[in-house]
Amino acid sequence: METRIFKTKELSEKTLAAAKKQAELFLAQKKRKPTLAVVLVGDDPASHIYVGKKTETCKANGLDALDFHLTPADGFARLEELVNKLNKRDDVDGILVQSPLPKDWDEEKIQALIHPSKDVDGFHPENVGALSLNTIKVLETGLPSCTPAGVMEILKEGGITLRGKHAVVIGRSNIVGKPMAQMLLSGDATVTICHSKTTDLEATCRRADVLVAAIGKARFVTKAFVKPGAAVIDVGINREMRDGKAKVVGDVDQESVTGVASFLTPVPNGVGPMTIAILIRNTVRAAFNRSA
Ligand code: GUN
Repeated sequence: METRIFKTKELSEKTLAAAKKQAELFLAQKKRKPTLAVVLVGDDPASHIYVGKKTETCKANGLDALDFHLTPADGFARLEELVNKLNKRDDVDGILVQSPLPKDWDEEKIQALIHPSKDVDGFHPENVGALSLNTIKVLETGLPSCTPAGVMEILKEGGITLRGKHAVVIGRSNIVGKPMAQMLLSGDATVTICHSKTTDLEATCRRADVLVAAIGKARFVTKAFVKPGAAVIDVGINREMRDGKAKVVGDVDQESVTGVASFLTPVPNGVGPMTIAILIRNTVRAAFNRSA
């Protein structure tokens, strides 16, 4: 079995180019750029890199990005104050508070505090509910959670059809697993969600025509999990030391599943760039939807 390794460079560039066009239209109509406020708390090096990438991609595609940096010593109330202020600012279209927050800070409270019209992560209960009730509409015009929405674009571009297929998602997080299952369901797949308590995980995964790995464990998914010919989507971003060097690896053991899967997204250069592209698309959508 030949495995197609699907790098997302072209698709993410196409998605960004479309968002850039819309951002230019917004600027022409409203005399300001769609604007994303990014809030980082603390000094986690990985979060610094992600946030830098998000603001850089905004600026390269006709959006403005505003950076806000708090320290854990500022306290949770200070973050709430900042989000309230950003909610009120008419020149801010999207608000993203980078996860993880310091230990013991109430992430859910912040997700619910961000105004749903500015919730470009799609984490607010109102947007989560809308995704559940009206998945296709949210995917097309709303603020869907970025990573699973990016996976849907990959499947479409890759020619992976969902109707009548069995899709298995490993991982039940609010950020990826749960919204991913909703989206696959909206594509008429039969969906199974697996997690750490699932018995006979390998056998369940081997029934998948489409397997989405979002576990957060490096190279967890081997060929023992993969039905010959299945499409495998790797959502993982794990840091590993190999030969004395830090390396980013996915949740899928690419070497093991190559030759078994028909389609595989690599890490890096797979799902990651699509997550950022959808974030930019969501921010431009938020700008238009707020001003409608
Ligand atoms: N940290 C890792 N991924 C994400 C994401 O998609 N959104 C936010 N806000 N924080 C993250």
